[in-house]
Amino acid sequence: MRTHHQANSDAEGFNWHIIKYVLPYVFEYKNRVFLALGFMVLAKLASVGLPFILKFIVDDLDTANNTATALIAAPIALVIAYGFVRFSNVFFGEIRDTIFGRVTERAIRRIGLKVFKHLHLLDLEFHLNRRTGGLSRDIERGTTGINFLMRFMVFNIIPTLLEIGLVIFILFFNYGINFAAITLLAIVAYVGYSIKTTEWRTSFVRMANKADSASNSQAIDSLINYETTKYFTNEDYEAQRYDKELADWEIAKRKNRLSLFVLNGGQALIIAASMTAMMVLAAMQVADGSMTLGDFVLINAFMMQIFIPLNFLGFVYREMKGSLANIELMFNLLAIAPKVVEQPDANDLIVRQGKVEFNDVCFHYHQDRAILKKVNFHLEPGNKLAIVGASGGGKSTLVKLLFRFYDINSGAITIDGQNINDLTLKSLRRAIGIVPQDTVLFNDNILENVRYGKQGASDDEVLHAIKLAHLDEFIQSLPDGVNTMVGERGLKLSGGEKQRVAIARTILKKPPILVFDEATSSLDSKSEQAIMNALKELSQGVTSMVIAHRLSTIVDADKIIVMDSGVIAEMGNHDELIAKGGIYAKLWAIQQQSNSDSP
Ligand SMILES: Nc1ncnc2c1ncn2[C@@H]1O[C@H](COP(=O)(O)OP(=O)(O)OP(=O)(O)O)[C@@H](O)[C@H]1O
Ligand SMILES: [Mg+2]
Repeated sequence: MRTHHQANSDAEGFNWHIIKYVLPYVFEYKNRVFLALGFMVLAKLASVGLPFILKFIVDDLDTANNTATALIAAPIALVIAYGFVRFSNVFFGEIRDTIFGRVTERAIRRIGLKVFKHLHLLDLEFHLNRRTGGLSRDIERGTTGINFLMRFMVFNIIPTLLEIGLVIFILFFNYGINFAAITLLAIVAYVGYSIKTTEWRTSFVRMANKADSASNSQAIDSLINYETTKYFTNEDYEAQRYDKELADWEIAKRKNRLSLFVLNGGQALIIAASMTAMMVLAAMQVADGSMTLGDFVLINAFMMQIFIPLNFLGFVYREMKGSLANIELMFNLLAIAPKVVEQPDANDLIVRQGKVEFNDVCFHYHQDRAILKKVNFHLEPGNKLAIVGASGGGKSTLVKLLFRFYDINSGAITIDGQNINDLTLKSLRRAIGIVPQDTVLFNDNILENVRYGKQGASDDEVLHAIKLAHLDEFIQSLPDGVNTMVGERGLKLSGGEKQRVAIARTILKKPPILVFDEATSSLDSKSEQAIMNALKELSQGVTSMVIAHRLSTIVDADKIIVMDSGVIAEMGNHDELIAKGGIYAKLWAIQQQSNSDSP
């Protein structure tokens, strides 16, 4: 996906589309921008005025030397003025930056939020494939890039060009064509060289970015799998893998640095050569008396004034290219289209009874491997449907399809006669509650993790749900009670505890359709029985789908379907399936056997 987008913004061109994208954010605070621009003009005026004051000082001092010492007062006043103007130059610049800071920060906030929202909009497939470490790096660099881009786009490129134009005009007007010509030539050479070299360098910048994201992905992935690394004592291996990525980064950075040397070296050469030419010219004119000493100083000062910003412009151009390369990675995220999308005229789901139907549903994750093949079943309102079958048979997939995490390839899934493809995703997902196979929790306390099931639920409501999920006994044993932090992904809780948090969440959500994907698989028989009772109460009058391996938990289901490699092999209630003597009956016999074997 990424490579595709990278091809769009080739290394040669300047990414104008990114600038166009960022520009509206600059104008969110129009007044601030104009105020900042005002201070910028003041600062520039001060900086163009400086060489003139310098010239007058030198000329005054020159004449003062030749005549009476009483005349010294005038140059002193000028020197003071010089100090004042120099200070104003810096001071106005600071005011400008302070005023404009707000604009940049707001833009970063807006764009950051946009990217975040977009990431949540993307389908499950994207998130299963993403590498968290690399992703966070791309976003981080993108944000820094925007900061840079905004500041320099508004304040440096255009004003510096203006300043340079002004100086050339002054040189031409006061000192003739020669000085202006040399300056112009120097600028053209400088700009041309900078652009060419910077373009050549951009690929190295990209390479370094890519290596940086890759090493970060590696590090994060490795740290997430901390326990596994320890179990297999693979610390050295992990370190090696990380170091390999770091080595790539180092190489990319070296290329980056060497190419920077070429760039800066060439720029310095152009500047030095043209300055020398101008100084020689000026020195000759002072010698033959057509210029004063003050003029010599003025030209020198102007050249400093032109080449320092020019050099700065080179720096800005280079950094901007870098920033754009960084921002591009972040914007590529925005360019990824979600695969599961709402119809433009999508309606909200209206659950009247809660009848769920799968009609001829075919689905594959990958072209070459069908997961569901023409799956048909009806789940009557208020009924309990159990799904059993071998691991990998597609049971959890059914649930993901019901939530519309993926679009089915053919057939239809309907709830109360409404095709889920025609519904808003929010209303669909709001109507279904799930206790998933693997519960992952937020790194927050237990109370907040349960409250996640219903934003804004009161503490009492949350505590009630906790009680129904039989979590209260466990929580009472904790020193910090409901305020206990659960650790990253909830790993500080046991499997059964996590599952009960998930159950409590769902109890709080109280949706009209319930799904339990092995909801009690991590519980011991005693807790399982207790929770089964709680769930039974919860599913009273509610349509529920229960995926289970332990058949004893689903004997009371209204309908049981047996999934076998993507097709429904058997369907019926417990007694019917036992009587049939097929897969289910065999499974049941095996489980009864092992039950009576265990003491
Ligand atoms: N995102 C995915 N991309 C590709 N294949 C997938 C994806 N998710 C699941 N699968 C494959 O689809 C098949 C069905 O998976 P599913 O999770 O539905 O099985 P299951 O019946 O729930 O199994 P279990 O009882 O072990 O939970 C599996 O073989 C799995 O490898
Ligand atoms: Mg499963």
